[in-house]
Order: sequence, then C-alpha cells, then structure tokens
Amino acid sequence: MISGAPASGKGTQCEMIVQKFGVVHISTGDLLRAEVSAGTEIGNKAKEYMNSGRLVPDEIVTAMVTARLSLKDAKEKGWLLDGYPRSSAQAESLEKLNIRPDIYIMLDVPDEILIDRCVGRRIDPLTGRIYHVNNFPPDNDEIKARLVTRSDDTEDKVKSRLQIYKQNAEAVLSTYSGVLNKIDGNRPKEVIFKELDSLLTRLQIDKDEASISG
Ligand code: AP5
Repeated sequence: MISGAPASGKGTQCEMIVQKFGVVHISTGDLLRAEVSAGTEIGNKAKEYMNSGRLVPDEIVTAMVTARLSLKDAKEKGWLLDGYPRSSAQAESLEKLNIRPDIYIMLDVPDEILIDRCVGRRIDPLTGRIYHVNNFPPDNDEIKARLVTRSDDTEDKVKSRLQIYKQNAEAVLSTYSGVLNKIDGNRPKEVIFKELDSLLTRLQIDKDEASISG
C-alpha cells in the first residue's frame, strides 16, 4: 500500500513500481475519475464529493476496491493499493476481509510543497502519465497540447483535501504500524524510487525464501 498527502507523489512512484515489479496498480482516485468520465451511477454520486475535495462515502469506495482486488490479475500478480484505505472505517473493512499489505509506504512531504505540486500538475488523458508544468514538463508539443488539469487541483480544494487527509491519516497509519515505512518524499523522484526499489526487492526475496522453506 502507498499513502501520503495529496500530491505527495503516490501516482508518480506507482508508475515506476508497476514498471519494475509488474504488480496491479489500484488507485481509488483513478477508478473514481474513470467512473465520473463514463457517467456511471457511481461516478454521478462521487462527482460532487471529489469536486469539493471531500472523501467519497466509504461504502461506494470499499465496494469498488474489493471488487477490483478479487479479479484474477490482482490475485496472480499482486496489487499496489494507492489512496485506499483513507479512513479508519476503510482500514477496518480490509481487516475484516483479512486483506493486509506486506508493506505500507507513507510518502512524507511538507505542506508548502504540496500546494505547488497540485496546482502545477497536468495529466495526459491519453496515457494517464503525470506531469508538472515546471518540475516535469512533457518532452514535446504534441503531448503538451493535450494535457489537462484535474478539477480538484485548485489551491482552495487542495487545502481542503490536505485538511481531510490530516484528520484521517493517523487512524489509518496505526492499523499498519507493523509494516509502516515512512519515506522522505521531498527529494527527486528517482532518488525516492531507488529507496522504494531496494525495500520492495528485499521484501520479494524474503517472500520467495519463505515460500521455498515452507
Ligand atoms: P486521489 O486521486 O487519490 O488524490 P490524492 O490522494 O489527493 O493524491 P493525488 O493524486 O493528488 O497525488 P499523488 O500523491 O498521486 O501525486 P502525483 O504523483 O500525482 O483522490 C482524488 C479524490 O478522489 C479524493 O479527494 C476523494 O474525493 C476521492 N477518493 C480517492 N480515494 C478515496 C478513498 N479511499 N475514499 C474516499 N474518497 C476517495 O504528483 C503530484 C504532482 O507532483 C505531479 O505534478 C508530479 O509531477 C509532481 N511530483 C511527483 N513527485 C515529485 C517529486 N519527487 N518532486 C517534485 N515533483 C513531484
């Protein structure tokens, strides 16, 4: 599982983790945005919460995540949950189903950095890749021309998302304190990934050894 405040770099690190380890990336933000774009019943319910930076009701998100976790690819390849659980009720739902992570990564970034990251973020709707107007601009004008800004990436909405994150973070962290790894997310993305890569590689070796021995 990967967690952290809005714009702490979860999606950016997930892109690199998936490329290296081949796990299935399950981002509740991405799943919800897809429902909103498709105009589904879930999307229509979720839209007003997301647009105002509030959490979508637990029952909607939990049903979506548990359905996705039960698919064959997630069971076979392993999963990387991004942005869930985000409240103590969501963490309890997973505990009841005996769904637990091998590792819980928490990206730690100071508040003042987060606002700039959100406001400058741009998304490529074609590939889903994450850019930033100053930190990570796209390589060419064709990509630049099609980039979009998320509707919840205004300064006011980011502040409200951050406040909600802080209200819930501690309760979720305490559920996973045994497997918690707090990572300094205020460094170049490649440096952060190097640390995550060595943590996840070690974990994979330990799991392989455990499965051979018994
Ligand atoms: P979600 O999409 O999960 O939003 P979030 O948690 O606010 O996280 P972000 O996607 O904003 O940021 P990120 O950490 O992925 O950062 P990124 O890599 O993009 O959720 C959206 C909404 O959906 C919620 O507000 C809620 O309404 C709803 N929702 C989702 N899950 C829910 C749940 N479980 N329960 C209820 N409701 C839920 O990076 C950000 C920017 O910084 C980019 O521009 C990037 O290029 C740049 N950047 C990244 N890393 C670095 C670096 N190391 N240095 C410099 N810049 C960097």
